[in-house]
Amino acid sequence: MKKKCFIIMTFWTIFVVVLGAYWYLQHLHHDSTMLLPSNSAKGASSISESAASVFFNSLKKYCNLPTSDSVFGFEGDFEESYDLLGVIIIFRHGDRGPLTTVNEKKKINCSSYITKSYKKLEKIVRTYRSETLAAKLLPRSDFCIPGVLSKQGASQLIELGNGFKELYAKHCNFSDSNIIKHLSANTTSYSRTIQSAYSFLFGLVGSKFLNVNLQKSGDVTFCSKYCQCEAANRFEKLHKVELNDLFKTDVSLANFSTQVQRILKNSEKPKKSILPTTLKDILLHYACHDEIPGCSVDESLCVNSTTIIPLDYYLHREATASSSGLNLKKAGILRAYGLLNTIDQQILSWINVSKKRKTKTIMHFPYFHIFSGHDLTLMYILASLGIYDGYLPQYASRLTFEVLSKRSQYYLRVLWNGFDVTQNICPSSQTYCNARFLATFIRFEMKRYFLTDDFLRACNL
Ligand SMILES: *[C@@H]1O[C@H](CO)[C@@H](O)[C@H](O)[C@H]1NC(C)=O
Ligand SMILES: *[C@@H]1O[C@H](CO)[C@@H](O)[C@H](O)[C@H]1NC(C)=O
Ligand SMILES: *[C@@H]1O[C@H](CO)[C@@H](O)[C@H](O)[C@H]1NC(C)=O
Ligand SMILES: *[C@@H]1O[C@H](CO)[C@@H](O)[C@H](O)[C@H]1NC(C)=O
Ligand SMILES: *[C@@H]1O[C@H](CO)[C@@H](O)[C@H](O)[C@H]1NC(C)=O
Ligand SMILES: *[C@@H]1O[C@H](CO)[C@@H](O)[C@H](O)[C@H]1NC(C)=O
Repeated sequence: MKKKCFIIMTFWTIFVVVLGAYWYLQHLHHDSTMLLPSNSAKGASSISESAASVFFNSLKKYCNLPTSDSVFGFEGDFEESYDLLGVIIIFRHGDRGPLTTVNEKKKINCSSYITKSYKKLEKIVRTYRSETLAAKLLPRSDFCIPGVLSKQGASQLIELGNGFKELYAKHCNFSDSNIIKHLSANTTSYSRTIQSAYSFLFGLVGSKFLNVNLQKSGDVTFCSKYCQCEAANRFEKLHKVELNDLFKTDVSLANFSTQVQRILKNSEKPKKSILPTTLKDILLHYACHDEIPGCSVDESLCVNSTTIIPLDYYLHREATASSSGLNLKKAGILRAYGLLNTIDQQILSWINVSKKRKTKTIMHFPYFHIFSGHDLTLMYILASLGIYDGYLPQYASRLTFEVLSKRSQYYLRVLWNGFDVTQNICPSSQTYCNARFLATFIRFEMKRYFLTDDFLRACNL
């Protein structure tokens, strides 16, 4: 017994040592090759340079960099006794130029992580010979442009679409041209969401993607009839005030503002209050594209060993406050009200059609409906469902609703970025939610927080 144990221990020790050495070498390798930016500030001391690169590398976890490996997720992975009736996917657009610019003169190449599938799409689009169509479908520049999808961002959505094709391969043949009839899409009217939608559809159905009906909506929340809402504006403002107060009053957060000012040295932005999430958005512009801003006089950002801040800690504190914030939850319910109703109606109409279908025909395809939106689109709906962790969703994040059927009963399964969160949303159900759960849920939450299930009355309280 002892001997066996000793042998196991020895093997374990060797394993750990080998693993450690491997990790160490990997780290060194990373540090010396991938991480050093192509145009790192010349003359800066190597110590501060490596501290900055370690810092920027630590931010890469927020980039969701595109890879050609299959997308991780449990979509399509439900109990075999159920049939798939339809899928609704709400995703955030891919990598883009920053919304908050800081007097940036230097352009950053945002095409370092484009995938093979992206090149394929580019090639197909080139055969259309129409400049206007090409400009509508794909990013034009290798460089980041404020608010515009990058080629890296298009790659993320193509890979996501491709991933869904694989995840649902058991339930649906996306090579069959009949799938187009069961595929529909809404997008907000920004070029980054339109191009993200096309990219996703290309990943899903290949060159048939242009045949899909893509409908534009005016609002980032897909609110349809339920857009104007004074109370939602008010609750959202209160939430921001709450966060700003937290960063002013909590001792461990009190230095954040001065630290931000040292990083954003020339910009007008630091004068206004800025939250960790905004700073993250600015820094991701560099981190996701293997760039590190130097600290020279003409640069507007300075991240070196003296200015590095514990951003992860600040983000964590902001996230904790946001995920439990009652004001954000209330704003979320009102902002997501229209979309949740739309989704419920979509589910209802699929169920109606399914009930009318007398026999199982051979041509039996599940429906797919996509919403190409923003981090806020997802934030509101996650907050309303009580599953928002407080971190703004990464590029190409996705919320998936699967409508399932079993012996003429209908069910709803919900996944957030590939993980089944059904039990978090309707904990009292056996395995999946009732298919019409969302309708019941919205009414219940409206009554609970606004003492009325009438949208207009809740908005004018
Ligand atoms: C941007 O980077 C990619 C990948 O490193 C490279 O192929 C491309 O030529 C670069 N574009 C420009 C305009 O420098
Ligand atoms: C999927 O559809 C295509 C085109 O109709 C067909 O060639 C292929 O055999 C089908 N694949 C499966 C697994 O049924
Ligand atoms: C989504 O698009 C469909 C057509 O595909 C349209 O009828 C519907 O109004 C749109 N929904 C929203 C919420 O924009
Ligand atoms: C905040 O800054 C002050 C003055 O620069 C410093 O003494 C203090 O230790 C800092 N607090 C934290 C929590 O970093
Ligand atoms: C970091 O940059 C600032 C501003 O340019 C400079 O004052 C400071 O000395 C730098 N620190 C290091 C360790 O290089
Ligand atoms: C579904 O069917 C029910 C009952 O037949 C009907 O009241 C409802 O309007 C239909 N809804 C949709 C979205 O088709």
